[in-house]
Amino acid sequence: MSEASGFHHIPVLREEVLEALSPLPGGVYLDGTVGGGGHASALLEALNGECKLYALDRDPDALAAAGQRLRSWGKQVALRHGNFHDAKDIFQGMLFDGILLDLGVSSWQLDAAARGFSYHEDAPLDMRMDQSAGITAAEWLNTQGEQTITQALYDYSDERWAARIAKLILEMRAEKPFETTQDLVRAVDRAIPKAVRRKDEGHPARRAFQAVRIAVNDEIAPIKQALNDLVHLLKPGGRLCVITFHSIEDRAVKTAFVKLRNPCECPVNAPICVCGKKPLISLPKGYPKAPGEGELAANPRARSAKLRCAQRLNYE
Ligand SMILES: C[S@@+](CC[C@H](N)C(=O)[O-])C[C@H]1O[C@@H](n2cnc3c(N)ncnc32)[C@H](O)[C@@H]1O
Repeated sequence: MSEASGFHHIPVLREEVLEALSPLPGGVYLDGTVGGGGHASALLEALNGECKLYALDRDPDALAAAGQRLRSWGKQVALRHGNFHDAKDIFQGMLFDGILLDLGVSSWQLDAAARGFSYHEDAPLDMRMDQSAGITAAEWLNTQGEQTITQALYDYSDERWAARIAKLILEMRAEKPFETTQDLVRAVDRAIPKAVRRKDEGHPARRAFQAVRIAVNDEIAPIKQALNDLVHLLKPGGRLCVITFHSIEDRAVKTAFVKLRNPCECPVNAPICVCGKKPLISLPKGYPKAPGEGELAANPRARSAKLRCAQRLNYE
C-alpha cells in the first residue's frame, strides 16, 4: 500500500463523540467514515473491545490504513469499502446501537499530494475520494458548463469571485485542458484581483478547491436521503452523530435532522395530523457542540468542526 501506511489524522471532538454515543458493552456500531480509524479506536478502547464495529470508507487507501490500525481488535472489527450514501443496501437487515459520520476528507487525504486535493503541491487534479469511481476534478472542470461551475463555486464555498473564476476556467481550457492542481491555482490567481485578497482568508485557491472537491465527490445532495436511511438502521434509543466542517455541510445535516424530527406534511393550520408521518428522532439538548480551546490549540484544523446528534425514537 502507498502512503496510507503514513496515515495521520487527529480525531476531532473525540471525547464529545464518545459522550454522545455512550457506547454499551455488547453493542453494534457503525463508523461510516472510518478514515484513519481514530474515532473507531476511541470507541473500541472505551469498550475494551466488547462490541462489534463496522468500519466503512469510500477510499480504499483510508480503509486499508484503518484496517492496519484496528488490526489488534481482530473479529470485533469488520471493514467495508463503500459510500455511506448506500448504507441501506450495504447493511440491509442490520440494526446499530450507534452510528458516526465524520464528514469530508481527512488530513491525510489533503496532505497526500498525489491525490490532488492540495493547492500547495503540483499533482494530477484528481480529488476523488474513491479513485475507482466517477470522474476526476480535471475531467469535471474540462466538461462542465460555465453556469454549473459558477454555481458549484457559489454553493459549496461561498466564493464571491465564482463567475470570474468559471469564465477563466473556460477560457484556459479552450487553450489547454486542465490536468494538474496548479492549473486550477493559476485560474483562481488570474481571476481574483490581488488588491482585494485578504491574508486572513488563507490561500486564494482554498475555496475553489473545496467547491470542486465537493462537486466531484457529490458530497451534499445525497446527505438528506443518507441520514434518513441511517436513522432507519438505528435501534430504538440508538444515536446518529455527525461531524461537519463547513456551513454548507452543517446546514444539510441540520435541515435533514429537523425534517426527521418533524416529518408531518399536513398544512400548518390542520387541526389534526392526517398524513400519519411520525417523528423518527429526537434531538438531544446541548448540540451542536464545537471543539473547546484546548482541542483548538492542539489541532487548529478542528476550528470549524461541529458535532450534531440525533436519537432514534422508540416506535415503528
Ligand atoms: C474526516 S475523515 C474521518 C476520520 C476518522 N473519523 C478518524 O478519526 O480517523 C473522513 C473520511 O470519510 C471518508 N468519506 C467521506 N465521505 C464518505 C462517504 N460518503 N462514504 C464513505 N466514506 C466517506 C473519507 O474518505 C475520509 O477517509
